[in-house]
Amino acid sequence: PITPVILSGGSGTRLWPLSRTGRPKQLLSLTNAETMLQLTARRSADSARFTAPIVVANAAHAEMIEEQLEAVSLPASALLLEPVGRNTAPAIALAALCAEPDALLLVMPSDHIITDVGAFRAAVEAAVPVVEDGWLATFGITPTAPETGYGYICRGGEIAPGVHSVERFVEKPDRVTAQAYLDQGCYSWNGGIFLFRADTFLAALEANAPEMVAAVRLSLAKAVRQGARVYPDAQAFAASPSDSVDYAVMEKADRVAVVPVEMGWSDVGSWDALHEIAPRDEADNAHHGEVLSIDTSGCLIRSDGPLVAAVGVKDLIVIATGDAVLILPRGSSQEVKRAVEELKKRS
Ligand code: GDD
Ligand code: MG
Repeated sequence: PITPVILSGGSGTRLWPLSRTGRPKQLLSLTNAETMLQLTARRSADSARFTAPIVVANAAHAEMIEEQLEAVSLPASALLLEPVGRNTAPAIALAALCAEPDALLLVMPSDHIITDVGAFRAAVEAAVPVVEDGWLATFGITPTAPETGYGYICRGGEIAPGVHSVERFVEKPDRVTAQAYLDQGCYSWNGGIFLFRADTFLAALEANAPEMVAAVRLSLAKAVRQGARVYPDAQAFAASPSDSVDYAVMEKADRVAVVPVEMGWSDVGSWDALHEIAPRDEADNAHHGEVLSIDTSGCLIRSDGPLVAAVGVKDLIVIATGDAVLILPRGSSQEVKRAVEELKKRS
């Protein structure tokens, strides 16, 4: 079987005011009645092929995570609770050190949308033979713009049906470089999902960041366990360097493979992205919650609080919660961070 590893550590300020430190994006319902975490757990809910997931998350979110997974009857086999975030490389190391060395780990971010789960599952199966052979597998998304928030993967030759070796993995290039990669045509975006054996991953991490493996190992040796909850020792874990799996392992490792896949992937990184993937009416409006709109078009209007009435407006993003309202022109939702930064300064 394959062991799903769900990463739920991000804080997600780009979907402010809905996402907050206390309730980040993965614990919200965005496109569906279910939360992003619940949808992620469902992607690998097949006991013929997968074990129960290992979830790696910030300790502050333990109760919410347990409640959400129990609500869909998909409890975690282990809930690894970080005292502080040290980014994804130590988070994955925690899971790898808790699993059997030959376990196949399917690492999944908890805050992405995949509309074609069948295509996703087929891509995972395609990667299994090379992963059993000691490769680190990534999943490649066809790029549509020179986005700078993604990893870029240059495909080499096919090493198994549907699986290519990776010539180069470049995390978050600048815009000019990203455009050059798009023009070259061999590049995919890294989907942020990985499949590898636990021992393959740990050997690659050990080769590039031995202090990280040592710190995480020590934090587990001194961990406190309560049922499925595992609390790694705070001091030992905090001593780990902070780095993402992309920089610490994928850019540097030798045997990295990519499975290009069309699966309706979106990382829902902004309100504009949500407008694109949400169901829309004839006038291109996406509504959620108590919303009344008259003569409006091209709007994303969401209320998790008061009734919102819009009359005669177009191409706006309006997000209302119990204590904050955001209004932006569509197309500029990355600017949310300016409001978040300003509010941080004032508080
Ligand atoms: N447990 C835990 N601890 N999870 C974490 C932590 C942490 O410290 N930091 C991040 N995560 C989780 C996030 O919640 C998210 O689900 C996932 O790990 C990826 O982290 P992001 O911070 O969202 O990474 P990114 O978006 O900048 O980049 C990654 O994803 C892109 C695709 O969306 C990279 O893998 C890129 O190469 C990739 O293109
Ligand atoms: Mg992300």
